[in-house]
Amino acid sequence: MQIRTKSIAMKYQLNPQFSSLIDLVKDIQSIFENSDIVLQDARNKIKKISYNNTDYVVKSFKKPNLAKQILYTYCRESKAQRSYRYSLKIAEHVPQAVAFVEFYDNGLLSGSYFISEMFDYDLTIREPLVDLLYADRNLIFKAFAQFSLELHQRGILHNDYSPGNILIKKIAGQLVFKIIDVNRMKFEPLSTRQRMANFSMLWASDDDLDTIVTEYAERAHLDKAQCLSLARTYNQGNKRIKNFKKRLKGRPVSD
Ligand SMILES: Nc1ncnc2c1ncn2[C@@H]1O[C@H](COP(=O)(O)OP(=O)(O)O)[C@@H](O)[C@H]1O
Ligand SMILES: [Mg+2]
Repeated sequence: MQIRTKSIAMKYQLNPQFSSLIDLVKDIQSIFENSDIVLQDARNKIKKISYNNTDYVVKSFKKPNLAKQILYTYCRESKAQRSYRYSLKIAEHVPQAVAFVEFYDNGLLSGSYFISEMFDYDLTIREPLVDLLYADRNLIFKAFAQFSLELHQRGILHNDYSPGNILIKKIAGQLVFKIIDVNRMKFEPLSTRQRMANFSMLWASDDDLDTIVTEYAERAHLDKAQCLSLARTYNQGNKRIKNFKKRLKGRPVSD
C-alpha cells in the first residue's frame, strides 16, 4: 500500500490479524515521537507504546547513509521489512509482528519502523550467563539448548544470536523463549559447524557453553566431543576478534 503527499511517500504492510491497528500504522511517526517509554536508544531507537490498552514495541531504524538509501530503495528490502517478513515466517518463535512502515523522501528510503507485540519477558539469556548465582541457571541453559535445537532443526539461523536478542518468560512452570532483532537470518538446512558457530555470540564461559552444547548434542544425537570442540573454537575466536576490536578503540576487554 502506498500513500503519496508531495515528495514524501509511505509504504506499509499490516498483519491482517492486527487490521484494527491501521490508524496506529498511519500515524506511526507522531505516535512514536510522542511516546516517552524508551527501551533502547543506540544505533536504532526502540520505544514501548500503548494503543487501545495493549502494549507494542516500535523499532525505528535510523536513516541510512546515501549509498544504503539507494541500496534499500532499489536492491534490497529495508531492515524493517525484513524484520516483519522473517517474523511472520517464524511466527511461533518471535513476538507477533504487527507491521512495517517505510518513508521515502524524494524517492529514497528516509526511515523505517517495525512494530511488534510487546513480549513481557522475565529475563534474557544474558542474566544467567553473567550471574554465576542466578537461580536454576543450568536448567535455563538446558532449556535454551533445546530451544536452539528446535530452531536449527527447522533450518532457522539467527545471525545475531546474542544474549539481548533471546527473551525468556516463565509461563506455568515452563520457560518460553522468543528471539528478536531478526533482520539478519538464514533459512536452510544447517551443518553441525553452523549450529555450533551460532553459539559464539553468547560470550559464554567455557563451562556454560559446555552445559549448553552437551545438552544440545545429546538431544540432537550428534557427536558430543566434536560439538564441544567446534563450539569452543568458534566461541574463543569470536572473543578474540571482539577483544581485538575493543583494544583498537581503547575500551576495556573481558575474558
Ligand atoms: N517485542 C518485544 N518485546 C519486548 N521487548 C522488546 C521487544 N523488542 C525489543 N525489545 C527490547 O528492546 C531491546 C532492543 O531490541 P532489539 O530489536 O534487539 O534492538 P537492537 O538492534 O538495538 O539490539 C531488547 O533487548 C528488548 O529489551
Ligand atoms: Mg538486539
